[in-house]
Amino acid sequence: MKITVVGAGAVGATCADNIARRELCEELVLLDIKEGFAEGKAMDMMQTAALLKFDTRIIGTTNDYTKTGGSDVVVITSGIPRKPGMTREELIGINAGIVKTVTENILKHSPQAILVIISNPMDTMTYLALKSGKISKNRVIGMGGILDSSRFKYYLSQAIKCSPHDLQAVVVGGHGDTTMIPLSRLATYQGTPVNKWLDAESLKKVAADTMVGGATLTGLLGTSAWYAPGAAGADLVEAIVRDEKRLVPCCVYLEGEYGQKDICMGVPVLIGSKGWEKIVDFSLNDAEQAQFNKSAEAVRNMNNVLSGLPV
Ligand code: 2OP
Repeated sequence: MKITVVGAGAVGATCADNIARRELCEELVLLDIKEGFAEGKAMDMMQTAALLKFDTRIIGTTNDYTKTGGSDVVVITSGIPRKPGMTREELIGINAGIVKTVTENILKHSPQAILVIISNPMDTMTYLALKSGKISKNRVIGMGGILDSSRFKYYLSQAIKCSPHDLQAVVVGGHGDTTMIPLSRLATYQGTPVNKWLDAESLKKVAADTMVGGATLTGLLGTSAWYAPGAAGADLVEAIVRDEKRLVPCCVYLEGEYGQKDICMGVPVLIGSKGWEKIVDFSLNDAEQAQFNKSAEAVRNMNNVLSGLPV
């Protein structure tokens, strides 16, 4: 098994670190455009192998895509992160060109790879990777829903005062401060609905905190987060390489499912060795479906920006 992570910045390096620690592949390539940067990160990580006891071989490269050849899974994290006060959507002008070029270069050397997209604005970058890569829809997966659901579980666990592991909670829709939809109605704490533990006002606050979870961290850190995005990327990679058939929310191409088509958005999907294998219908109620439709409108407006860009 061979995996490539494109972008050795904080998110890419954290994702690579998690992949190596979990020994998801024999060979892991870390690629970056900054001279020597990926080589340095790879060497630093390899110097933890004796301490952390992993046998994955990590190779860093400065933009040499031949080194990525034959990858089974490729994680794309390239592009600029947001600064405090910025939305993910404001990154499109710079990141669209980068993601398109990366996608084309990767597929030249790894035509069978499954692509995991982390770059922002993630829903639109997933759509762009699918359209420019011209590959089967099942091989392009945006990671956002796994990250947002983990943040949802964090805020729920803080409010309930329980372990995040004991929670089941899913965020669908877009990966944006106003487009994500934490599905509080379906969230459970050890099989019991969370509204047994939290009143409506607390649940509303948990959902609101979840939606701006990334923005809150950007405000605190001065740049966007990396531990949770990196770990979420690795979690998705693990579901693919171990053919886990996990049911998780991810950003995938819709062709009528959840009432939307020709758009990539977060919905519950089964993940396995072929990429995303099936979209699962969670039977949204009218209010949730209305939120989903509104979210789709915002994502579609962002996708339309692509046609005005030189990509
Ligand atoms: C986040 O939400 C980077 O989009 C990522 O932190």
